[in-house]
Amino acid sequence: MKNSKKTTKKATNKSSDYISAKDARRIAKENRRITDEFEKIKNRKNVPESEYTTEMKNSNNLLEVENLHTYFFTDIGVVKSVSGVTFNVPKGKTVGIVGESGCGKSVTSLSIMQLVQRPQGQIVDGEIRFDFDKAIYDIVKIPTEKMQDIRGNEIAMIFQEPMTSLNPVFRIGLQINEVIELHNPEMSKEDVKSRTLEMIKMVGIPDVEKIYKMYPHELSGGMRQRIVIAMALSCDPKLIIADEPTTALDVTIQAQIMDLLRNLKDRINSSIMLITHDLGVIAEMADEVVVMYAGKVVEKGTAHEIFHNPSHPYTIGLMASRPGIGDKKSGKLFSIPGSVPNPVDMPNYCYFRDRCDRAIDACNGEYPPQIFLSDTHMVTCYRYLKDKGEQND
Ligand SMILES: Nc1ncnc2c1ncn2[C@@H]1O[C@H](COP(=O)(O)OP(=O)(O)OP(=O)(O)O)[C@@H](O)[C@H]1O
Ligand code: SF4
Ligand SMILES: [Mg+2]
Repeated sequence: MKNSKKTTKKATNKSSDYISAKDARRIAKENRRITDEFEKIKNRKNVPESEYTTEMKNSNNLLEVENLHTYFFTDIGVVKSVSGVTFNVPKGKTVGIVGESGCGKSVTSLSIMQLVQRPQGQIVDGEIRFDFDKAIYDIVKIPTEKMQDIRGNEIAMIFQEPMTSLNPVFRIGLQINEVIELHNPEMSKEDVKSRTLEMIKMVGIPDVEKIYKMYPHELSGGMRQRIVIAMALSCDPKLIIADEPTTALDVTIQAQIMDLLRNLKDRINSSIMLITHDLGVIAEMADEVVVMYAGKVVEKGTAHEIFHNPSHPYTIGLMASRPGIGDKKSGKLFSIPGSVPNPVDMPNYCYFRDRCDRAIDACNGEYPPQIFLSDTHMVTCYRYLKDKGEQND
């Protein structure tokens, strides 16, 4: 609350709750200037491949996101949805991403797909390195026309609400055919159809021919999500980004979809980036865990490290709220008192400080640095810097 006045100050006139017409015009003009520049670069034609070809830092990784900054240039100011996110997805592994609503999980995954709502939303800094087999590209630098070719072939995204990925006026079979055709223009019509039928079968739907001819509204929510997964996997993607894939479904179906994802992952040896509010799902599925807070990664490590030695006060709060074994409560994230800082005007100190019950004097300083508790376990919190200092003394 203490910050509410301060947070609106930049975008508004004299800290009032309103933006004057003059300020609004100034912000809109500035936004246009910045986004036009980004768009010009993105929409260039015939960009030489060398401009976006890069190298992985570690060849065991399929995806390396480094220092990603994705902003939205809105009428009330610049929303810094993702500001400095760094994490890797190793080949054949599942990485779970957790964090409360609005912390930038979806914007991070949309950035990886180059599907951030443009021109308002832009990746303003950072690298997204992806191993496309024949080359390593920095997705941030790939021009729009080239990205259209590769999106969906190598990276598939499964959204929370299956209807957003399905067209209500076309039959299921035709929609899957279309995806397969798009990515395999040389395939014959018969081969496309048999691949579609195979995909529908693979996601555990028995009456394949019947489903092929049905419309999305004729299916239950669980069936629709299976179809979306079939569509997403029809091109054997190397990375599956599942953004809350089961939130809209009931618990039994959730478990079935998760089993399905796990089996499919093993069958086509892809990696999964799994975004969920459900720590139970993360515990079951993830090899590594990334904890996000207010557009940044506050802690990451192996699933064992995060579950057995949660270190950031935010993660500790999340873990404390986990239901015990045999507990009938759901594994949804609990809410910590207080609210996230305004993304239009982030403070220059730890973003969690105003909600933290473990703050120490050092927390009044600038945003805490990354501290490695092991080769794989990273936390951004002054408590560990202090501990280290004391040990060294
Ligand atoms: N198109 C947009 N225009 C402006 N702001 C946006 C836009 N999309 C997302 N944001 C903002 O970016 C921030 C991060 O949003 P994001 O959707 O990534 O959150 P999330 O972690 O996926 O949350 P949830 O768990 O609710 O899905 C939020 O503050 C959101 O309001
Ligand atoms: S740096 Fe300080 S305020 Fe921030 S999470 Fe750690 S203890 Fe809490
Ligand atoms: Mg989201």
